[in-house]
Amino acid sequence: MVVVGAGGFGREVASLLFELRSRGVGFGDIGVVDDRPSMANRARLHSLGVPLIGTVDDLVRNCRETPVVLAIGSATARRAIADRLSVTDATFPILVHPQASVGAGVTLGEGSVICAGARLSAQIRVGRHVHVDQNATVGHDCDLEDFVRLNPQSCVSGDVTLETGSLVGANATILQGLRVGGHTLVGAGAVVTHDLPAGVVASGVPARVHARVVAAQAG
Ligand SMILES: CC(C)(COP(=O)(O)OP(=O)(O)OC[C@H]1O[C@@H](n2cnc3c(N)ncnc32)[C@H](O)[C@@H]1OP(=O)(O)O)[C@@H](O)C(=O)NCCC(=O)NCCS
Repeated sequence: MVVVGAGGFGREVASLLFELRSRGVGFGDIGVVDDRPSMANRARLHSLGVPLIGTVDDLVRNCRETPVVLAIGSATARRAIADRLSVTDATFPILVHPQASVGAGVTLGEGSVICAGARLSAQIRVGRHVHVDQNATVGHDCDLEDFVRLNPQSCVSGDVTLETGSLVGANATILQGLRVGGHTLVGAGAVVTHDLPAGVVASGVPARVHARVVAAQAG
């Protein structure tokens, strides 16, 4: 299994893979690719015992039905790498931590990662390459479009739509029935009480839009 990204989430996903392997669910040897791993992240990978095996270009060149997980927080970067891999025969398994719960009628898209403690209640649609980080909760009838990311402890109430590439910060709450526009960033700790348009940054209680997303932040 190739994990794309040597950063914090990449190593958390490696840990998830260890956990699955200890329960007999294996995807073969684990290696990481990253185009620009920092020295600190190289050292952290080394101490985890996970080899750095090259760059995304190497992965694209050498892909042989390789299982791959895109473990990068930025939705824009995740999408760009998914596009590059679309010409290969890479596969994108769905990874669910044994301590997560996924209820009845929940559908998970390829490459989605559901971390420890996450709870998805019932009849939720999760798109491709979505990350649901530790202890995030998602209520009934939600629609999490492709490349969405829920940071730890975020709370998405029932019947919410999170459009493509949007991000919900740690400990933020989205009230029921709302829609968050594509690539919008909801700040840590925010409480979203109205629909949010695409491409904005919103934070606070109640959440207020205070900026447009700029490329450097793009979720
Ligand atoms: C909201 C957010 C996207 C804004 O990022 P940004 O535009 O780069 O904002 P800055 O860091 O430049 O901060 C701008 C101002 O907003 C404030 N601010 C930043 N994040 C905030 C938040 N979540 N809630 C309230 N105010 C916040 C800052 O204190 C700063 O105020 P100041 O100008 O009075 O000092 C970001 O701070 C955030 O919350 N991201 C989610 C982070 C997260 O979930 N982390 C956990 C990862 S596991």
